[in-house]
Amino acid sequence: PSNELHERAQRAKKLLGERLYILGHHYQKDEVIAFADVTGDSLQLSQIAAKQTADYIIFCGVHFMAETADILTTPNQAVILPDMRAGCSMADMANIDQTERAWVELQSYFGDTIIPLTYVNSTAAIKAFVGRNGGATVTSSNAEEMVAWALSQKERMLFLPDQHLGRNTAVKLGIPLETMAIWDPIKHKLELECALEDVRVILWKGHCSVHMNFLPKHVANLREKEPDRKILVHPECTYEVVAASDYAGSTKYIIDMIAASEVGSKWAIGTEMNLVNRLIATYPDRDIVSLNPFMCPCLTMNRIDLPHLTWALEELVEGRIINQISVDEKTAEEAIMALEKML
Ligand code: 13P
Ligand code: SF4
Repeated sequence: PSNELHERAQRAKKLLGERLYILGHHYQKDEVIAFADVTGDSLQLSQIAAKQTADYIIFCGVHFMAETADILTTPNQAVILPDMRAGCSMADMANIDQTERAWVELQSYFGDTIIPLTYVNSTAAIKAFVGRNGGATVTSSNAEEMVAWALSQKERMLFLPDQHLGRNTAVKLGIPLETMAIWDPIKHKLELECALEDVRVILWKGHCSVHMNFLPKHVANLREKEPDRKILVHPECTYEVVAASDYAGSTKYIIDMIAASEVGSKWAIGTEMNLVNRLIATYPDRDIVSLNPFMCPCLTMNRIDLPHLTWALEELVEGRIINQISVDEKTAEEAIMALEKML
């Protein structure tokens, strides 16, 4: 029964005391968030991980986040992901071999005029690739600053692996859509609508399977039926959805917007289900719904649950570290160059 598990997890956490720190991403289940020492969006959690001194860091989030935490902590600290199956389908859309091959091809078109940027939702190997090629990481909280920075360094950028965050950010900075090409890693091919020399942004053809569930028709239906309901989405949604919405931003931005909104205000939110449900429960005096009437879960985020967390905690009490995430030294050294530019 979950009550018993809750008590067991509480007991183990207490025994571990200051040797343990638990980070929780906003998309985690309530039963997990209940144990987090801190919650945050991807940027906040990387910043907090970088300052942590605890021996054990349990990362309640997905694999790439735990890798980032491991890169930013010292070798004598252990970063633990309670369930190794908690990956990210978007991060899996760019592997290092595809990326290296793409880079060679793109350099044959553009020479030394490209800089790579990667969304933190990517493997440590991709972050290392970006680091050794002079680029940086970005999160949805700082994408505008980071893209502006990249385009102040070189004429054009390669943005991995989320085409939607890349496109939405570039549009916000006034870059015309026609000058954005798409790199298809499966076909190993550049799709473009303008002359090669006019390309400013090359978007890796990746996406978030959760945010793809929010569709222009959901926005159109709401606009027709409830024109006074504000629409607030994550920038991993498509350009069409973001352009038709009222506001777009990271999970922290979404939370801050609702917290600052008027009592009685009406919202439709386009992001992961656990966060939407938590906002509905936290602000009963606002009228909040999911933009897609069928709530959209991130299945991999949801793999971290109370049984897995309890298991990780009780093993630590017994002196055993399970599911430790370790990035090799060389990869970490190169990835840190990309992360530090951002942090
Ligand atoms: P943020 O919390 O940075 O907005 O990221 C959302 C996300 O998809 C994490 O996987
Ligand atoms: Fe990856 Fe999307 Fe899940 Fe975030 S919500 S972890 S981007 S699949």
